[in-house]
Amino acid sequence: MRPVDPNHPLLVFGGPYSNLQATMALREIAKTLGLPTGNVICTGDVVAYAASPEETANLIREWGIHVIAGNCEEQLAAAAPDCGCGFEEGSECDLLSRGWYPFALANTSDETRTWMGRLPPGITLDYNGFRLHALHGCTARKNRFLFASQKTDLAKEADRIDADIILAGHCGIPFINRIGQKTWLNAGVIGMPANDGTPDGWYALLTPEADGIRITLHRLAYDHLAAAGAMRRSGHANSYARTIVTGIWPSYDVLPEVEKSDTGVSLRQKAVLAKRPAPVLV
Ligand SMILES: [Fe+2]
Repeated sequence: MRPVDPNHPLLVFGGPYSNLQATMALREIAKTLGLPTGNVICTGDVVAYAASPEETANLIREWGIHVIAGNCEEQLAAAAPDCGCGFEEGSECDLLSRGWYPFALANTSDETRTWMGRLPPGITLDYNGFRLHALHGCTARKNRFLFASQKTDLAKEADRIDADIILAGHCGIPFINRIGQKTWLNAGVIGMPANDGTPDGWYALLTPEADGIRITLHRLAYDHLAAAGAMRRSGHANSYARTIVTGIWPSYDVLPEVEKSDTGVSLRQKAVLAKRPAPVLV
């Protein structure tokens, strides 16, 4: 595993989703920040809705960052018949996935799918006195949606994970929840908007400070019109092409009531200080 340099921030992001333009923009940010590749973590779903599956996967692979296997990697590696997102049979998300998933499968090479099949389901690393664990959905299921409002479920999950800071993906909306002494960070995704009425994606930075780690959520503005245009040309997922521009998801099937009622409400960039864990006295 590539070493993490404690002298640099850590950049965490999820869901490139075949969105080449967003992924290129994110890589530029990492470059501008001077981050070593060991300090960048992708929480999975490299390939999904957008127009450039193979190109996006190649960019991520050649970049050489840490990548966790999402449900999309798992399904594509197995050439499975569906995305494995956990959508209910017949739901709108399920029907929409019948448009984009076959396109994603048809437009990824054997080499890319072999790479996907070798990605780890999670990684644990030590960073500035903190134990971090990155995963996609939850410990038992890659495709479990866990949103900020699901506090009881998040607390149960956090209990199962031996880490101070949990870096999760899959759900598509960024949040930072404090759960006792632990922090649950979902960095959001870069390849689709966060259903907040803006076209931006999201990523997170973890920056060491004297008394802990500052966790910040950031917008990713990128050439979303080019990404949407490429999707319209391929024609495989027009509803999601609209989402790329409007910032509103085509379906709210997977959203709890709180997140559903926040549809179209612009998210704020947040900052939380995770305090250094107290030393264990023996
Ligand atoms: Fe996922």
